[in-house]
Amino acid sequence: MVTVRDLQEQAGETPITMLTAYDASTARIVDEAGIDVILVGDSVGNTALGYETTLPVTVDEMASHVGAVARAVDEAMVVADMPFLSYGVDEAESVRNAGRMLKDEGAHAVKLESGPHTVALTRKLVQLGIPVLAHLGLTPQHVNRLGGYPRQGTTQEAAETILELAREHEDAGAFALVLEHVPSNLAAEVTDALEIPTIGIGAGPDCDGQVLVFNDAVGLTEWSPSFSKQFGDVRGEMTSAVDAYVSAVESGAFPADEHSHEQADLDELY
Ligand code: KIV
Repeated sequence: MVTVRDLQEQAGETPITMLTAYDASTARIVDEAGIDVILVGDSVGNTALGYETTLPVTVDEMASHVGAVARAVDEAMVVADMPFLSYGVDEAESVRNAGRMLKDEGAHAVKLESGPHTVALTRKLVQLGIPVLAHLGLTPQHVNRLGGYPRQGTTQEAAETILELAREHEDAGAFALVLEHVPSNLAAEVTDALEIPTIGIGAGPDCDGQVLVFNDAVGLTEWSPSFSKQFGDVRGEMTSAVDAYVSAVESGAFPADEHSHEQADLDELY
């Protein structure tokens, strides 16, 4: 299994690969491809649960997806994303919610969308044995405060705040930092300034690793952010397979003889 130590040793040598996954079949594919870290992101809200934002995602929903992924994975580190308001309001509740992901669901670490309010919590979780992946830059749980999903760290002051918070989370014991949708030169500077690995999404090539949302990366979503890239056309493949199934059923070509069996010694039924 990939450990926190493995990632820290790998940083600066071989780029760290991270993808999201939300269910057992996808997690198995991602794990078998040799991905280092699987993030069960709260992006499950948009990708699998039909919400418009990540805000409605509950701890129970996350726990169910984290358990499905963790049960399927042999090698990758599994990181559970903590959903909106499941942390940072009350310390004991935050610890219980994060602890549940490791204790009951089999995750190896949690991710918190970070800010000044998560420094002490990060320290507490790490002290208790819960590894924390910090997340700075664009934090989608702040969509209402930000008025959308704009690029972050674009002014001198905002860039300095991100660097300062990155240092504070490293000092608090975070094992790595996700940097989302920030200028690549800022990501490069943060990466240089920290000992812990940075994992970028829309943060340029100089981070220690990269993360994408699975559905965007494989081409399953209709829309994906400009900083993402589609490495396949899974939506197209799924559409052709479903079309082929519908035609085969409608034409009577499916099921064929090889998909059915007759029981020779059955009496006629009344
Ligand atoms: O929820 C998520 O998928 C994330 C990644 C985009 C980093 O937070």
